[in-house]
Amino acid sequence: MDRQDVKSNLVLILDFGSQYTHLITRRIRALNVFSLCINGTSSLKSIADLDPCVIILSGGPHSVHSLDAPCFPTGFMEYIESNNVHVLGICYGLQLIVQKTGGEVRVGEKQEYGRMEIEVEKACGLFGNRKVGDRQSVWMSHGDEAVKLPEGFEVVARSNQGSVAAVENREKRLYGLQYHPEVTHSPEGMETLRYFLFDICGVTAGWKMEDILEKELKVIKETVGPDNHVICALSGGVDSTVAATLVYKAIGDRLHCAFVDNGLLRYKERERVMETFDRDLHLPVTCIDATDQFLSKLKGVTEPEKKRKVIGNEFICIFDAFARDLEKKLGKKPAYLVQGTLYPDVIESCPPPGSGRTHSHTIKSHHNVGGLPKDMKLKLIEPLKLLFKDEVRELGRIMGVPVSFLKRHPFPGPGLAVRVPGDVTEGNRLDILRKVYEFRKYKQCKNIQQFNIFFHSLCCTCQADEIFIQAIKDAGIYDSIWQAFAVFMPVLTVGVQGDQRTHSYAIALRAVTSHDGMTADWYYFDYKFLADLSTRICNEVQGVNRVLLDITSKPPATIEWE
Ligand code: XMP
Repeated sequence: MDRQDVKSNLVLILDFGSQYTHLITRRIRALNVFSLCINGTSSLKSIADLDPCVIILSGGPHSVHSLDAPCFPTGFMEYIESNNVHVLGICYGLQLIVQKTGGEVRVGEKQEYGRMEIEVEKACGLFGNRKVGDRQSVWMSHGDEAVKLPEGFEVVARSNQGSVAAVENREKRLYGLQYHPEVTHSPEGMETLRYFLFDICGVTAGWKMEDILEKELKVIKETVGPDNHVICALSGGVDSTVAATLVYKAIGDRLHCAFVDNGLLRYKERERVMETFDRDLHLPVTCIDATDQFLSKLKGVTEPEKKRKVIGNEFICIFDAFARDLEKKLGKKPAYLVQGTLYPDVIESCPPPGSGRTHSHTIKSHHNVGGLPKDMKLKLIEPLKLLFKDEVRELGRIMGVPVSFLKRHPFPGPGLAVRVPGDVTEGNRLDILRKVYEFRKYKQCKNIQQFNIFFHSLCCTCQADEIFIQAIKDAGIYDSIWQAFAVFMPVLTVGVQGDQRTHSYAIALRAVTSHDGMTADWYYFDYKFLADLSTRICNEVQGVNRVLLDITSKPPATIEWE
């Protein structure tokens, strides 16, 4: 993205470690204003290089009095004054402004956490045309409070406990909110942000996906140049698909995509994904069937992290071979690799002060399944690295990626391997593999008993998963769920089916709601829906006589079972 085009309207967030900081960025983007978030202790040069018109100082877990309290860089106040930058401090950010400009912050007598009422004390302030005495409900989360305001500041609102809730110094363009306007528990918070940005700061809304698409295409063309080739590993997920579609639009068939079938995909996943690439996106993709390769390496592996490593290494080998083949064919090495890195991954690799996380410049390993072979020496193209997931979906929509595809639930790189606890390859592999394909062809598995546990586990999981997902779609609740899937339980239990005693496996169903996958709640299904589903799975999936529902949130559990 060409920063030159957005900087005059850039709202920069300095992150001091609040759990809500990314939400501020998103809220502002939702107002069609470009917003970036950087570490609160970044240098003055890195702030000035971005040339923001507004800076928001986020909340954070520190007290301004603690020894390691993070602060904006020396010279910050002079910089904003001489560059006419408006500043809004939120919670800890307000306290920083007050403390650094001659006011006083103390540990509050009554700490304020949770939903509170505030009352407007000054009309025409941060709350626009709200009258003195107007009240609104807000979300507070602070121990310290501003007890003496610096010269030139006025109180705009107070909490019902009498604490300062909003302040401003119009002349110096400094503003502060003690509560969190960015969270939904502050129902009028968005209106306050809107008023602050448009009416007080004079920001122009104009940031839209169509412009991003155009700018990205330009940047990709310039970066790759007229002759270089680019490779991309497609997972069938939203991020890599949108990234590849974008690069393909920019450089056409100098992009070479590979989709790897590792034998651990969902029911008909390979066919569905390849069809979308071909029919809807007209994206040439090489489908690499590496089932044998993966499953032979997974034999006897039971430890979840080891499984991930085995799968990750295999992806690297396959990808490496793909690049070497291309080199032979093209007469030159591909120079770039496309990755679907998103903004949360970028932010996460540079955690803010006070978050308790250490700085690291690697993206979470499990979001980057294959890693990169060291000797490939490919330069990265990460066209989505400033976007959030919903923005990526919007970009995909503009480029014609089918909405049904964009809304698909996330699927982990190691595939069904993390949904079949233990060794996924127990039994006779070669037979199994053939039968898995047969199963895919005929859909209904007629004589499951002759198949071994592996065939059983993948088949049962695929089939139950398919029934589960279809039922969720038919009930119209697919889009309300972050992720839903079936898990194979390698436990034999007794049942009665068709007047016969059975000794069969159990299937667990997992469905969660989440914003980002970091935390999750289990989804509350209707009882009737669950009862019907359980009956269907036991009737239609041979070898299963029991259905369980996972009612654990994250934490303490993770979303996947391994
Ligand atoms: P957990 O299980 O860690 O999952 O709560 C959070 C989100 O990440 C996905 N996930 C993975 N994705 N490789 C991936 O590409 C992995 O190894 C992996 N493990 C978990 C998971 O599906 C969920 O969306």
